Amino acid sequence: MHGQEFVLGIDVGTSAIKVLAVDSDGSIMATTSASHPVESPRTGWSEQSPDQWYDATVEAIRRLLSQHEIDPGGVQAIGFAGQMHGLVTLDDTRQPIRPAILWNDQRSASICLDETERLGLDFLLKHTGNRMLPGFTAPKLLWMRQHEPEAYARIAHVLLPKDHLRFRMGAALATDMSDASGTSVFDCGARAWSQAMFDALDLPADWWPEAFESTTVVDHLNAATAEATGLPAGTPLVAGAGDQAASAVGTGAVEDGQVSTTIGTSGVVFASSAAWRHPGDGSLHAFCHAVPETWHLMGVMLNAAACFEWFCRELMPDVAAQAEAEGDSPHARIAATAETVEAGSNGLFFLPYLTGERTPHVDPHARGGFVGLTPNHGRCHMARAVLEGATYGLMDCLELIRKTGVHPRSIRLSGGGAGGTLWRRLCTDIFDLPTVTTTTTEGTGFGAALLAGVGCGFWPTVQEACARTVHERDRLEPGPDRMAYRARHARYQALYPALRDWWAQD
Ligand code: XUL
Repeated sequence: MHGQEFVLGIDVGTSAIKVLAVDSDGSIMATTSASHPVESPRTGWSEQSPDQWYDATVEAIRRLLSQHEIDPGGVQAIGFAGQMHGLVTLDDTRQPIRPAILWNDQRSASICLDETERLGLDFLLKHTGNRMLPGFTAPKLLWMRQHEPEAYARIAHVLLPKDHLRFRMGAALATDMSDASGTSVFDCGARAWSQAMFDALDLPADWWPEAFESTTVVDHLNAATAEATGLPAGTPLVAGAGDQAASAVGTGAVEDGQVSTTIGTSGVVFASSAAWRHPGDGSLHAFCHAVPETWHLMGVMLNAAACFEWFCRELMPDVAAQAEAEGDSPHARIAATAETVEAGSNGLFFLPYLTGERTPHVDPHARGGFVGLTPNHGRCHMARAVLEGATYGLMDCLELIRKTGVHPRSIRLSGGGAGGTLWRRLCTDIFDLPTVTTTTTEGTGFGAALLAGVGCGFWPTVQEACARTVHERDRLEPGPDRMAYRARHARYQALYPALRDWWAQD
């Protein structure tokens, strides 16, 4: 492929960097990924080295270009998407001070409760549109101030994960409005940093990078990264978006009222909105969309595919190893065993709150569990119960979105989990709505590429980019199990209130 024009989309995921090359027709030319570990020095903590993201990206780009024989000279722009909320702190020489504290880290739980009590939920909703949640960026800074005062004293800049990667590839400190939305110090309605929040939390305003709309060219590829990757120096770097807004772009959920679901490590139900609004009680996240001057509502469960990954690793390592030895996907093999079991897993329930929960319970103390085990249950039932439990959690998010008056006629699915046929069937039956998969299940990286394509002029607007490049691939209609699932979802919903106080005693 010589001289063909293309853009790159880079997704800084929790478990891997994914890179996609997309041409000016929106066709995916090639994808690669390079994984990186998450460190959990204590239960509830979740950290990653920012420099790993850069190293994994360089490796992934080199492989992408060489294995697929892509002429690097054709690149027109690079777009970014990434795990949201992660705290990267830099000193005055712009070096990381400590490992990044990630979105699923719960260490600031009591700080969030104290600050919400001190400032009042109404104050937080007025100035950010959102609750202050463990995992969001600013409360982690407050945690550093209390627990690591020497490190805190050295902070000169704060960045989000994908913005640190872009900074390493270019030179500028910058962010975009969708990602800034998840910091607890961004006024999402006004699309600007909130001086009221900086004052209330006593955080310096000059630590935070300028926030741009997601399609803006904010920087250019530096010489060192050009040399390391083979891409031309000076390639435009586009602001990009938080992974959820990017994923919505990648599945075409860019018009008012369109709803998408992403099953990655986390599980998200996302509703695009032309106007600014929030639910009034902070029950959903109300953030800026990656489509300029628009917004979105979303529910986020902390563990969706993460539950199934845990189950496969810890409870079916033999099946996973055999599948791998035979060149098969371990997850697909284990999902196939779950398919041999009838809907409802013979009365077994799984609670997906492995690291606490965000939507709908906002409870860092909640934990996972199987409920209803009998001697008649085997691992296949447990595998199915895990997938069903995570999907009931997504249904909880969808119910909250419906309460705001959004009534989708179908749901767009993306993320690794959406690739599995059983998981798609469960979403369709439990949501009791048709589900649609689009051009790629890697919606996040594709969304990042589309934002880059708008930035470099392939398409005039994000909506136009989606209209031209996001195509419906498969559509599933709800099947006969949907009524049984309605009753089982109600039983699932009774479990959390029954256990809440018990978990809180830990
Ligand atoms: C969104 C969220 C997660 C992360 C990781 O609010 O916390 O979806 O972005 O994917």
